[in-house]
Amino acid sequence: MISMKRILLASTVAMLCAGTAHAADLTIGFSQIGSESGWRAAETSVSKIEAKKRGVDLKIADAQQKQENQIKAIRGFIAQGVDAIFIAPVVATGWDTVLAEAKEAKIPVILLDRTIETANDGLYLTAVTSDTVHEGKVAGEWLVKAVAGKDCKVVELQGTVGSSPAINRKKGFEDGIASASNIKITRSQTGDFTRSKGKEVMEGFLKAENGGKNICALYAHNDDMAVGAIQAIKEAGLKPGKDILVVSVDAVPDIFKAMAEGEANATVELTPNMAGPAFDALKAFKDSGKAPPKWIQTESKLYTQADDPKKVYEEKKGLGY
Ligand code: AHR
Repeated sequence: MISMKRILLASTVAMLCAGTAHAADLTIGFSQIGSESGWRAAETSVSKIEAKKRGVDLKIADAQQKQENQIKAIRGFIAQGVDAIFIAPVVATGWDTVLAEAKEAKIPVILLDRTIETANDGLYLTAVTSDTVHEGKVAGEWLVKAVAGKDCKVVELQGTVGSSPAINRKKGFEDGIASASNIKITRSQTGDFTRSKGKEVMEGFLKAENGGKNICALYAHNDDMAVGAIQAIKEAGLKPGKDILVVSVDAVPDIFKAMAEGEANATVELTPNMAGPAFDALKAFKDSGKAPPKWIQTESKLYTQADDPKKVYEEKKGLGY
């Protein structure tokens, strides 16, 4: 006779197996932009960690910063019949056709860290992003306080042309300094979110502005461009963080190192964990059939010299991504 214990054990094993099979059955295609910045590399690592925690089979396609590669990858994911598609859209426009194809194939799409411009927001399930206008505004307001009424010429390093964070962080910063007639943006150019381009463009700004002596502050749409620009400022014989104030966005370990060395002043944090909330929203949607809100907002936090940058650097480094 089969004992009660055995029946219980068998049913528990069956339940566990069913659970594991269900999680492992979920295959998600992630069209990632590339690896243009430290933040982007961290986002890719965190996405893998969050997928592993949930037993999701995450297939990542690196688009090398090209929209055409993203569109190709998305079509590939549709052909494979994945359960969902995550996209970090390199630019904001030009997605309607391929997203309509995903919808036709009944594959839910979630946008990660960047938004798109479309007349039909039914083409995606939700977007997990920060408020990128707010990030720029916080950076601008920080500068208004830091210069305390003194005249200040600002140079701006923009992110990738046509990307939602570049558009919004520019607007937000302009809003943040709008009340301060002493602050003017005198030069603004794209550094494509990369360290090397940030350095190259900053070298041009320094040359054009009396070796940098006319520049009071640098606003960079991400930390990597700021780190490249800091190098250019030092090579021009000036002190970043003092002769030229530096404020940027992302809060990656390298900017805290620069802050600890007095070479940068402030950064606005963007969490690299966009995938975690996206996996959870997708699961809830699949379980209940109820669509999540169109925007799942992640937090943005300002860090300054008052936040013990050396300690934050050690903590962030310790996270290992
Ligand atoms: O979309 C987020 C932005 O993309 C990050 O701020 C930047 O570092 C990255 O390249």
